[in-house]
This record gives sequence, structure tokens and C-alpha cells, in this order.
Amino acid sequence: MKGVILAGGTGSRLYPLTKVTNKHLLPVYDKPMIYYPMETLINAGIKDIMIVSGRGHAGHFLELLGSGVDFGVHFTYEIQEKAGGIAQALSLAEDFVDGDSVTVILGDNIFQDNIKEDVANFDDGAKIFLKEVPDAHRFGVAELKGDKVIGIKEKPKEPKSNFAVTGLYIYDSDVFDAIKTLKPSGRGELEITDVNNYYVSKEAMEYGVLEGFWSDAGTFESLLRAGVLVREYQEELHKTS
Ligand code: DAU
Repeated sequence: MKGVILAGGTGSRLYPLTKVTNKHLLPVYDKPMIYYPMETLINAGIKDIMIVSGRGHAGHFLELLGSGVDFGVHFTYEIQEKAGGIAQALSLAEDFVDGDSVTVILGDNIFQDNIKEDVANFDDGAKIFLKEVPDAHRFGVAELKGDKVIGIKEKPKEPKSNFAVTGLYIYDSDVFDAIKTLKPSGRGELEITDVNNYYVSKEAMEYGVLEGFWSDAGTFESLLRAGVLVREYQEELHKTS
């Protein structure tokens, strides 16, 4: 299993915080944002990790994270020249993944859950991780029937459920063929939701529901919320230790 952290995009929703640095280098409580997705992959037992970033401040990722030796893993770096969407950023990892399976995580997503078992038990097809939220219209939203995902809509005005599709995905190596079939969406991007619907249409999509907290951190509100959630979690840990 390979790992990919997607840290491209423009960070425009956090302007002016992102005027002179990259969104994924901003602090979430006591660590740079990118540490959290990185730790999610490392805690899942993944040792070979590619970081895809945009051009702006790409050298800062290298300076911050280095070869991976400090974390007991190996990092590879790739540049997404233009913010062409999450699926386009993932397509850059095809040679790196080299026919293996891949766990993909968005650089602005903060997870409490450990997905080690999901990674160890993954066979083929795809797996997404859902979280019940009060504001599903902000995310990809899953429509469920029994234990099946029957469709995913990107930021629907009228969500069919409260289950947000979080920015954590496991795919087999077919994902790169799936991306090659995509057309840009209304916002001009290759959408990860279209990749996921490709697997749904092949009845090859599984899902899990997260138990712990999850937050994106790409808006002022969610960045603040993510920091507060992390601090609360650390306080809990101190109380019980
Ligand atoms: O946070 C989860 C949500 O993330 C999902 O529910 C949605 O289905 C998914 O489309 C995505 O929604 P956003 O519109 O919030 O994604 P955003 O454009 O903020 O990008 C999230 C991360 O993806 C960003 O931190 C870096 C990476 N990214 C994004 C784009 C557009 C790239 O690496 N390259 C890109 O071109």
C-alpha cells in the first residue's frame, strides 16, 4: 500500500493567511496542518508516501518534512502545476503507485480515527470513509441503501443524507484508468467525487463510518474548529494518562 497526501490547490478561501505561505503549512493548534494527514497515513502503517503540492512554497514542504527519516517513512515529492482538481492531483502519482493500491488523503483533512485495519484488510475496488455532519451541503454526500453506497453528489443543495464523504480514500490501481475517463466539472476541476462514482457504478465501492472527530481546515471557521478539536482531544488524553 502506497500513500498520497494531496496538498495542491490555491487556498483562496483562507486569503490573506495564504498570501505568503501555503494553506497546509498553517498551524492547526500545535502543528503544521500537513502533519495531521501525514500522521494518519503513518499510523495506518504506510511507509511510502508521496506529497503532491502546488508550485507556491513547494520548497517549504521539503524543508519541513525532509526525506521522512525523522518519521520512520520515505517521502517522495511531486508538483501540481495548476489547481486542476483533486483527481488531477492524484493522477500525478500514477508512476509512484506503480500498480499497487493507494490510500489518498487531503492535506487539509484532520482525522482522529486510525484506519490501520481498513488498510490491512483492503483487497480491491475502493473504500470511502463517511462522517455524519450537520452541514452536509459543504461536502461530497453519500446516498446509502442498506450497506451500499448508491451515489455520491458533490456539494448538493439538498443532500440525500447527512453522511459527508471525508477526504480519505483507498483505491486499487484501476483508479488511474478511472481518472483518465473524467471530464472537468462546472468548477473546471477533475473531481474526486466522479472517481468515487466510477467505483459505485461498478459496484466496487465500500464504506466505513468514522467514530472519532473529523474536520476539514480550508475555511476560517473549519480551521478554527479543527484546532479546538485537536486541543480538546489532547486535554482528554492528558486527563486519562
Ligand atoms: O474535505 C472533504 C471534501 O473535500 C469532500 O467532501 C469533497 O467531496 C471534495 O471535493 C473536497 O471538497 P473541497 O471543495 O472542500 O476541496 P478543496 O478544493 O478545498 O481541496 C481540498 C484539498 O485537496 C486541498 O487542501 C488540497 C487538495 N487539492 C485540491 C485541489 C482543488 C489538490 O491537491 N489539488 C487541487 O487542484
